[in-house]
Amino acid sequence: TVPQIHRLLSHSVALKSTTHLWLRPHGSLSAKRASALRMPPQSLFLKTVALLFSKRSTRTRLASETAAAMLGGRALFLGRDDIQLGVNESPRDTARVIGGMTEGIFARVGDHSEIEELVKWSPVPVVNALSSLWHPTQILADLLTLHEHAHLFTPGASPPDPKKKELPALRPLTIAYVGDSANVLHDMLVTYPRLGHKLRVATPADPKYRAPPAVWDRVVELRCDRNDGIWWGEDPKEAVRGADVVMTDTWISMGQEAEAEQRYKDFEGYQVTEELCREGGANPEWKFMHCLPRKKNEVNDEVFYGERSLVFPQADNRKWTTMAVFDLVIGKWDLEKDGRPR
Ligand code: CP
Ligand code: NVA
Repeated sequence: TVPQIHRLLSHSVALKSTTHLWLRPHGSLSAKRASALRMPPQSLFLKTVALLFSKRSTRTRLASETAAAMLGGRALFLGRDDIQLGVNESPRDTARVIGGMTEGIFARVGDHSEIEELVKWSPVPVVNALSSLWHPTQILADLLTLHEHAHLFTPGASPPDPKKKELPALRPLTIAYVGDSANVLHDMLVTYPRLGHKLRVATPADPKYRAPPAVWDRVVELRCDRNDGIWWGEDPKEAVRGADVVMTDTWISMGQEAEAEQRYKDFEGYQVTEELCREGGANPEWKFMHCLPRKKNEVNDEVFYGERSLVFPQADNRKWTTMAVFDLVIGKWDLEKDGRPR
């Protein structure tokens, strides 16, 4: 829900600010400041979060392992070749066994139904670390990055004070997405319009590049398609018209490698470049974002490594937003109150 999104973002800012203060060498601080230092919450003390990952990951794994450590706990990485799941054991039995020995499951899966199966049988909270349909924790990091760079979208505004723990306010933005309708875009579709931002999406003509029915049903259910919340076409130049932010993702998501040749053909003309955004009429101050990992096909080096790019602060923010999710959803989860009997 929108209040939950705001709570997670505000909590991310508070955790980021507290932890940075705590990490700074004490020698550079006055004694008074040092004594005022507070550690991040240790809500995962003596607790374990299982990282049940059936696909590769750099950011999501780093974010979760480092966040769990900061919260005083442990993330236990269980890759597809490490455990019995899928070879000798069912998702149902695996969920019950992992949930019997840990306090939460962060799962990166293939088909989204695998997340639903884990949720059904796990006695502890399950958080989606990427599925065929959704990538919710990515969107939290993207939102935090937009809020932290809110001053870039308001002429004359000054950058936020890093010592302040409040989430900076963000004006309603026009956000263009040029590329494949995959998990990251799907979460954008069900989130940004509810927060007052407009989405302009361009995907190739073939209907297979449109959002699948399960995603569109949720868009409609949450009324994200109302009030011009989403414009969808095939022309990347039209999509970037008036855009404050231009985003994309890989054209070949994990598991789609066999379709690479066809996809490169279908996405011709979709590369994000200065020229595309100038000709399309983006806001001259437009910024670029990408969940990463990135290939040059979808965005050229000039944009990716240029002044407009927010991609690395965006990647860093995976940690603080994952930490907020772990703290609020797993660390403060109460088995007695919220949990199902083990
Ligand atoms: N953005 C993201 O989820 O990256 P990884 O696949 O490296 O975790
Ligand atoms: N759409 C991409 C996102 C990677 C973070 C994939 O699923 O591979």
